[in-house]
Amino acid sequence: MTGMSIVVLVSGNGSNLQSIIDSIDAGQINTSISAVISNNPDAFGLTRARNHAIESRVIDHRLYDSRESFDQALQHCIQQFEPDYIVLAGFMRILGSALIQANKNKILNIHPSLLPTYKGLNTYQRAMDNRESEHGVSIHIVTDELDDGPVLMRGRYAIERGDTVTDLQHKGHRLEHRMYPKILQWLGEKKLQIGENRVEFEQRTLQEPIEFNQEKI
Ligand code: GRF
Repeated sequence: MTGMSIVVLVSGNGSNLQSIIDSIDAGQINTSISAVISNNPDAFGLTRARNHAIESRVIDHRLYDSRESFDQALQHCIQQFEPDYIVLAGFMRILGSALIQANKNKILNIHPSLLPTYKGLNTYQRAMDNRESEHGVSIHIVTDELDDGPVLMRGRYAIERGDTVTDLQHKGHRLEHRMYPKILQWLGEKKLQIGENRVEFEQRTLQEPIEFNQEKI
């Protein structure tokens, strides 16, 4: 299958990676995964890659004495695969500006909140502590500021009485596993195009993030 190629970066379980693999296998996305790269040698995402005969690499951050040298090794590794996009799927290292600029507009991230609210960690707990009535998931382009790049898509769900952090995690993951494949499908079809200073969706400038729940998918 021709089409675009991606590299997926994971640090842990890799359930988002799995949803992308499954969508590719089902013929829903015109994409191939050139490699899965992890900073964590024990990431289950690496096992998922191996189970599907996808190339995998480990760049263990603990073996580097600075963020810059880790980033350089990571960039060197990514470059070998010449991906169209670099897909962060639970990658728990903050990338430095040099790597981000070298891959400008090509790095995507999925974040468990309705960005721009709740950047950073522990978003479920913080949303519950603030008695929010809804929470969600965002897919955005990675820029130098953490969790701050242009948001492509948001999906939301209700926080119901009695919900625990685990409940929210489940709701979030269910959405994530549909959202990331959808964004990649649209990028592969060029229905969604990320340009230098603007994003186009269906040949129009994207002014607001796509609301996933409104899509008839
Ligand atoms: C996801 O919840 C994602 O939003 C966050 O990290 C988690 C990764 O989960 N960035 P998994 O490794 O894909 O299961």
